[in-house]
Amino acid sequence: MSETSLPFNEKYSPSNAKVSSGEKRKKEWEESLKNPQEYWSEKAKAIDWFKPPSKVLDDSNPPFYKWFPDGELNISYNALDRHVKSNRKNKLAYIWEGEMGEVKTYTYYQLYREVNGLAKALKDFGVKKGDRVAVFLPVIPELPITLLATARIGGVHAVVFSGFSAEALADRVNDCGAKILVTADGSFRRGKPVSIKDNADRGLPNMPNIEKVIVVKRTGQAVQMKEGRDVWYHDALASAGANAYVEPESLKSTDPLFILYTSGTTGKPKGVQHGTGGYLVWAYWTLKWAFNPTDEDIFWCVADIGWITGHTYNVYAPLSMGITAFLFEGTPDYPAQDRWWDIIERHGITILYGTPTAVRMFMKFGEQWVLKHDLSTLRILGTVGEPINPEAWKWYYRVVGKGKLAIIDTWWQTETGGFMISPASGIELTPLKPGSATFPLPSINADIYDEKGQPVQAGTKGVLVIKSPWPGMLQTLWKDSDRFKQTYFGRWPGIYYSGDYSVRDPDGYFWLLGRADEVLKVAGHRIGTVELESALVAHPAVSEAAVMGKEDAVKGEVPVAFVTLRSGFTPSDELRAELIKHIRTTIGPIATPDAIVMVNKLPKTRSGKIMRRLLKAVLVGAPLGDTSTLEDEGSIEDIKATYNDLRKQLTK
Ligand code: WTA
Repeated sequence: MSETSLPFNEKYSPSNAKVSSGEKRKKEWEESLKNPQEYWSEKAKAIDWFKPPSKVLDDSNPPFYKWFPDGELNISYNALDRHVKSNRKNKLAYIWEGEMGEVKTYTYYQLYREVNGLAKALKDFGVKKGDRVAVFLPVIPELPITLLATARIGGVHAVVFSGFSAEALADRVNDCGAKILVTADGSFRRGKPVSIKDNADRGLPNMPNIEKVIVVKRTGQAVQMKEGRDVWYHDALASAGANAYVEPESLKSTDPLFILYTSGTTGKPKGVQHGTGGYLVWAYWTLKWAFNPTDEDIFWCVADIGWITGHTYNVYAPLSMGITAFLFEGTPDYPAQDRWWDIIERHGITILYGTPTAVRMFMKFGEQWVLKHDLSTLRILGTVGEPINPEAWKWYYRVVGKGKLAIIDTWWQTETGGFMISPASGIELTPLKPGSATFPLPSINADIYDEKGQPVQAGTKGVLVIKSPWPGMLQTLWKDSDRFKQTYFGRWPGIYYSGDYSVRDPDGYFWLLGRADEVLKVAGHRIGTVELESALVAHPAVSEAAVMGKEDAVKGEVPVAFVTLRSGFTPSDELRAELIKHIRTTIGPIATPDAIVMVNKLPKTRSGKIMRRLLKAVLVGAPLGDTSTLEDEGSIEDIKATYNDLRKQLTK
């Protein structure tokens, strides 16, 4: 998206929302930055501490900030026990719907009981404070239950998205040194069982630390259970006893809560580590500010719990607030293209937190699918994961929101723990602009810098940076504090580098413009081009690879790979299919390239650097510009011709 084509001057005031000048919000934001000590000691009272913090922030060793350093708490206590002790005991914590339409509900009390049971089982298997528990589960209730049970005993969970390959799973499990893996026999996808345990089994021989594998029975398909290592989840719960109770461990605010792997600019995924107190306070307040949920709400965040959005907004934020959250295992267009709208109508969903890719997909299906359903329970809409183009925003606003509902576009990252830039209906809603995430939330000291680290003027594109610490920020990268420092604070000391482009308009609204680094956002999934390139060159046929993002009308962008082959290999459709299969088995289906272009040479400078700019120009069909620094000027014309031939063939 080019910044010059953005609708800076279009303002929307949804008819069901109270929209005002934004003065109140601005004041609160200023207050939070002027007096963080006072501001956050007050806000921290929203959660229950075993030992309340006497200090808000220890910033003596930047960028290793410690939030609420002497406070003690347990996050599962905050998500469960405190509601069980209140009049929320029998309130629904979760409504879950499976792919096949089956529905299961958990009250806070029921969730509390099962979490205690699993916490006891994990303890019996030897999990102690600080131990890592790897989780490879689809979106079923046992997923949040595992997270809460782990947190209850002071373990550190590391969820691996269930669509990842055996190899990707093993890499992550080994990096964090987990000794327990919780997985499932399978999951349902488009009406058919797909196996998960088989995938885990393929990776397990390469995970020497894993002592126990706990397996949830979801589909009932046949699985191999290895004697002495594998145990069924229901058997583990039964052994723990029906009335198991495990005292929640009193943890330091700075004790790690979880590790979540995400893609960066090298081939090795980053183990983003989040702590306990700062993260929880941030999760709670960001949800409150953005969506302001109440006891009447049913909050549906469509994200898979395998990603940060699901961690924060399907588990920790809604449960710590004591609201009802909705979980969905399945696919948006199965059994029909109105699955979401049907769900909203049947369950009376009030808050829908979706994604731009989904909105664009529904636009393609046509509004008749939406209009078939009574969506009058909805009171607010949200979006996350990638920039929402103004056209999709307007469709969402008009067709789903009927011009009445605010759209809360939340910009944030795995590293930030929770929302950073977003409309704040829970403080004061300012007029919305289609495609803008509006303003930074309290404590978020955001700015936009040019290459030299100078703030840019309104209307000029630059990189988004955060100039002060905030409670939800990552603590470090797991066992790699140098990389943490280097990646996020290496460019400009003391300044958090987001890796995103942004522009501010003359009214001060922030507009997000996509990644500034080698990271792609494919249907909202974060994929490192270098990760894909490493996977490709690991194949015996591939000599070199350059992966680029190409704009896509539904997915936002898709990866396109340019490869050169080793001698003895010749380009063919079979080899292309094999390379695609290779990516699916080494990373996972989400990383599948849209096209693999086999070329004789990659465009390089005389010093051997790949000229990515030229490959990008080929993808968008733009003029090549100056090619005089190319080592071989003819190579790019060949690439262009090969790419255009392949495109024709693929679209046939
Ligand atoms: C992108 C997902 C524009 C951005 C929560 C960021 C967005 C990356 C938005 C983080 C948004 C997320 N508008 N871009 N509302 N939300 N992004 O770690 O590029 O999976 O850096 O976290 O997603 O992706 P991650």
